[in-house]
Amino acid sequence: MKGLRVVGTGRCLPKNIVTNAQLSRQVDTSDEWIASRTGVLQRHIATDETNASMAERAAQQALERAGINPEQVGACIVATLTPDYATPSVACLLQRGLELPEDIPCFDLNAACSGFVYGLTVARGLLAQGTKPYALVVGSEIMSRTLDFADRATCVLFGDGAGAVVVEASDSHNFVSVLGTRGDDTSLSCPVGGTLQMQGSEVFRFATDILPRCIHETLNKAGRSLDEVDYVVCHQANQRIIAYVVKKLKAPEEKFYLNVQYYGNTSAASIPIALDEMATKGLLAAGSRVLCVGFGGGLTWGGAWLEW
Ligand code: COA
Repeated sequence: MKGLRVVGTGRCLPKNIVTNAQLSRQVDTSDEWIASRTGVLQRHIATDETNASMAERAAQQALERAGINPEQVGACIVATLTPDYATPSVACLLQRGLELPEDIPCFDLNAACSGFVYGLTVARGLLAQGTKPYALVVGSEIMSRTLDFADRATCVLFGDGAGAVVVEASDSHNFVSVLGTRGDDTSLSCPVGGTLQMQGSEVFRFATDILPRCIHETLNKAGRSLDEVDYVVCHQANQRIIAYVVKKLKAPEEKFYLNVQYYGNTSAASIPIALDEMATKGLLAAGSRVLCVGFGGGLTWGGAWLEW
């Protein structure tokens, strides 16, 4: 088995949308500050949704679009740092809800905002040694659970949501990834049961340093150039971070997908939400090549060459 092929995508966003104007009634901030510093205009915030309910809807949609039977799924991985329970994992709840087979691994993976790229890599490894052809890789977060709404420097940045992909083991499609870690509990941390703390400018520096390097390393490992990529999907944390990367790489801006305006930073869910949005807009079809790049808490980062 050489690589992976994406055969289905799905997403689920909480129905409750909170605009910057609405947030500024609750927090000492303004639409102008948030939009100009981050690009975010609104975010979805969960009310009666749970992490597992959003993950299940996104995954169900991905399975339907892939047109496959749950019996053919060989692994289910949910990337999240905001599960409903320490145990059972969100992935275990998906096994029940989606009626996935019992003889497969289902587990959550925490690599913060890089979790989806880590999840794809782990899925590839599991498919290589398994007997079923497909894996579900989901990113699902209720970031609002971790936010201190008295801390205006962090609470305006994040949102809730879930995205999912079904990947198939494939000899004719490539998959390459580069993963990294640098243990650091001061730049960005969230104690268990506590609230998210962040040194914004340090994280900004980390992101703008690691993203271009990660893109280069992933392309080198794949033996490809940026010209051969249809889209680069960076973790959607901040429009200014993505604009910096575009400039640093002297890359065409339109190649870098951007939707942080509508969702804020949904951590591990941001890349699969973007992939599903792109697929439903008709931007992705058989033969498409996408470079996914995540970065975030841990600190962690990861790049993946992914084909449709
Ligand atoms: N509304 C209004 N003012 C705010 C504010 C808000 N929501 N949050 C912070 N401010 C104020 C600060 O108090 C500060 O005021 P002061 O100069 O009077 O002290 C001022 O705005 C500038 O703050 P600063 O932190 O320097 O802003 P910045 O330009 O660095 O932007 C971030 C802050 C968080 C947007 C930016 O650092 C960033 O995007 N970092 C990366 C974060 C990220 O992506 N994290 C997730 C990684 S997965």
